[in-house]
Amino acid sequence: MILIDGKKAAAELRAELKEEVAELKSKHNKVPGLTVILIGDLTPSQIYVRNKEKSANEVGLKSEVIKYPDSIEEKTVLEKIQELNSDENVSGILVQLPLPKHIDKQKVIEAIDPSKDVDGFHPMNVGNLSSGYESSIPCTPLGCYLLIKKIEPNLSGKKAVVVGRSNLNGKPMTQLLLKENCTVTITHSKTKDLKAECLEADIIVAAVGIPELVRGDWVKKDAIVIDVGINKTDNGIVGDVHFDEVSKNAKALTPVPGGVGPMTIACLLKNTIDCFKRSQI
Ligand code: GUN
Repeated sequence: MILIDGKKAAAELRAELKEEVAELKSKHNKVPGLTVILIGDLTPSQIYVRNKEKSANEVGLKSEVIKYPDSIEEKTVLEKIQELNSDENVSGILVQLPLPKHIDKQKVIEAIDPSKDVDGFHPMNVGNLSSGYESSIPCTPLGCYLLIKKIEPNLSGKKAVVVGRSNLNGKPMTQLLLKENCTVTITHSKTKDLKAECLEADIIVAAVGIPELVRGDWVKKDAIVIDVGINKTDNGIVGDVHFDEVSKNAKALTPVPGGVGPMTIACLLKNTIDCFKRSQI
């Protein structure tokens, strides 16, 4: 079984991006800039944002974090986004989710200029991805996609099963696999026989948020299994895949932690650089 080393893959991607930033700097005399807006004091969000900032600095991007208290008015956030939209030193804007209840998430996402939307959540980018046009691609599915391609460069005709249909992961993952000519089944909580669906798959991407849902006898020999889950349990953090069981069957599997997670942030940096490059044309 191949243990897919997301930490190593992310470090390699960051090294490539660092070189690219240096080239862009000598060509344009400026570097791409990422601005993250963090609202409130949720610990996981604070940790994510700190890691994003650290990684951005490491590859040579200009990075800025704007922090607001939980009580901030929606209007203030929307005005700040407008300001960042017209700031030519800002290549990418990310508003860390989740947001406090009184702030309309969709309004915030739609306020971001689609050409600076490094999350790929704006309806314009969602539409472009599903139409097969150039777009920002959500970071986690992009990271999963790059890991899958490392194991199997030619995905044409492969059967892929995506477990979970979220806008963040499941739906964009499906689009990426479709673009690679996979036959994709998207499954969810109302799927009748999830085990039977998974047993058909050459590739399984589990992004459903249920600890250790995918069991050893759900997985065909030689399947590639990507685990997006990060679930807190009494036994610590586990994924959506039962690691010990599935590692006995699968051809390749991502661990949790150390699989998809590190790739997500590296892909955010990639998206920021790609937004910058498109803005310079
Ligand atoms: N919170 C958890 N994951 C994400 C993500 O990918 N983007 C944003 N903006 N917030 C998140």
